[in-house]
Amino acid sequence: MCGIVGAVAQRDVADILVEGLRRLEYRGYDSAGVAIVDQNNHLNRIRRLGKVNILADAVNESGPIGGTGIAHTRWATHGEPSETNAHPHMSGENIVLVHNGIIENHEELREVLQQRNYEFRSETDTEVIAHLVDWELRQSDSLLEAVQKAAKQLTGAYGTVVMDRRDPERLVVARSGSPIVIGLGVGENFLASDQLALLSVTRRFIYLEEGDVAEITRRKVIIKDHRGNIVERTATDSTIEHDAGDKGGYRHFMQKEIFEQPIALRNTLEGRISQERVIVDSIGTGAADILSRVEHVQIIACGTSYNAGMTARYWFESIAKISCDVEIASEFRYRDFVTRPNSLLITLSQSGETADTLAALRLAKEKGYMAAMTICNVAGSSLVRESDLAFMTRAGTEIGVASTKAFTTQLAALLILVTALGKQKKTVNQATESKIVKALHELPTNIENALSFDSKIDELAQEFADKHHALFLGRGEYFPIALEASLKLKEISYIHAEAYAAGELKHGPLALIDADMPVVVIAPANDLLEKLKSNIEEVKARGGLLYVFADKQAGLEATDTMKIIAMPGVSEITAPIYYTVPMQLLSYHAALIKGTDVDQPRNLAKAVTVE
Ligand code: M6R
Repeated sequence: MCGIVGAVAQRDVADILVEGLRRLEYRGYDSAGVAIVDQNNHLNRIRRLGKVNILADAVNESGPIGGTGIAHTRWATHGEPSETNAHPHMSGENIVLVHNGIIENHEELREVLQQRNYEFRSETDTEVIAHLVDWELRQSDSLLEAVQKAAKQLTGAYGTVVMDRRDPERLVVARSGSPIVIGLGVGENFLASDQLALLSVTRRFIYLEEGDVAEITRRKVIIKDHRGNIVERTATDSTIEHDAGDKGGYRHFMQKEIFEQPIALRNTLEGRISQERVIVDSIGTGAADILSRVEHVQIIACGTSYNAGMTARYWFESIAKISCDVEIASEFRYRDFVTRPNSLLITLSQSGETADTLAALRLAKEKGYMAAMTICNVAGSSLVRESDLAFMTRAGTEIGVASTKAFTTQLAALLILVTALGKQKKTVNQATESKIVKALHELPTNIENALSFDSKIDELAQEFADKHHALFLGRGEYFPIALEASLKLKEISYIHAEAYAAGELKHGPLALIDADMPVVVIAPANDLLEKLKSNIEEVKARGGLLYVFADKQAGLEATDTMKIIAMPGVSEITAPIYYTVPMQLLSYHAALIKGTDVDQPRNLAKAVTVE
């Protein structure tokens, strides 16, 4: 989704801004632009449709000089992807701005501004902010005041940075619903929608709060809260690794992130489990008390995070004996729901900025949930800041749009949480706890073993690349793993894929089975194996093409129409996490063969910060 970078410095900032945009490319975008102003009030705005590289070439050619500038990658919402709709947008010759989010009342504002003789040059909702600031500036003493006044008239979500050509000493930024971080330098300061954009220039950051408006100059940052009072916001040092934006020796970020899973899991487990026990306090201050009062769990998430929640539902009920509902955030927030007594709300999110999940959290807080916890991968993100408890996955920065290590670390965190909850509720005894903890200790090594199937899966993927559809089947907690596998395949290889609980086959999807429809089955050795074998027979009998990822002990024999990928047995508890890995590799290799843009699949964004 859109990305913002800004800088106020003594040196020329063009390279810093373009490098910042490159670091935000993973979020997904369709056009990019930059505007830089120099000490003589000369403004240079360059916008291009397509990749940041194209913008970078244009910037190199034009060589804009100047120490104050803003830059943006746009993911079209209002108005097609085009150079005219690309940011920065301007009002007249002076006010220049970039914006993330959506202005919901842009049509009414556009009418009012047109009556004031403002001429609109784009189809975007953003342009209204530029004219509104220009209008307010005519009756204000400063740009800061004008932006504050304009912000009060906006409904919707925005993270916006405004620059005035006549005053190249400062940038003004406003945040409401779209994250903005200020990067502190020495004699220079920066802004971005994600700290990752600025890691080459600073590691010290201030996160703006909802409703904040700030003025940034080379030496000073003044922040006002939503009431207009000057406030201090704490600066923190980034914990993100320096090389988070590099692929290392890998061909794609997604590939790197798949292979990083053993270390990501080790990091997530560290300090959360001892030799045999789950450390309840590691979940957060007050976690023990909150968990002991929980009678119901409501999980809210989107996409891959939702699939993690769906998997964990089986664990909450079978291990902790606590009822659990899981719902897609965009459904939950618009439904007239009933809050169960002593219900713990859990949001799951890699980014911590997903608009629907955040809105669902805010709504739930008004509707009497006992407490709100987030399991999240980004420190300082909105979900983390707005939840009572934040249980961080430590997957490291995930750049590939297709979520991989965030999913498996979410599952590990959820398993720790389920065990902790069961301990507090006395539904998990010491023997069960030791068994789960043992399985968690073994997990990173199991994942390393699953990764060793890479070349085998590469061969298998050759058979998928020319297919138009695929079906994934699983039972119990492997149904959500099948959902996740189908999401992965469709988003990066563009092969249409569906997942079904295998017992549902005969209720409809069997009609689709023919030799052109690969059917992937996840078949661990568990209580449901015999049932699953019957489903496999149903597909076989209809001439279907089967690819079965099965436990070595499952007793399945390969045939002409059924390939078996025999996986070494692992603990039943963590096996859903283990079986996720070959599914990720299958999608990755299918996408490679199809030649798609693996890390930035078409039409998708990494952090979905708009509804
Ligand atoms: O950052 P979040 O986990 O809240 O994001 C939710 C979804 O947008 C995300 O999981 C999406 O489905 C991924 N592209 C899936 O690979």
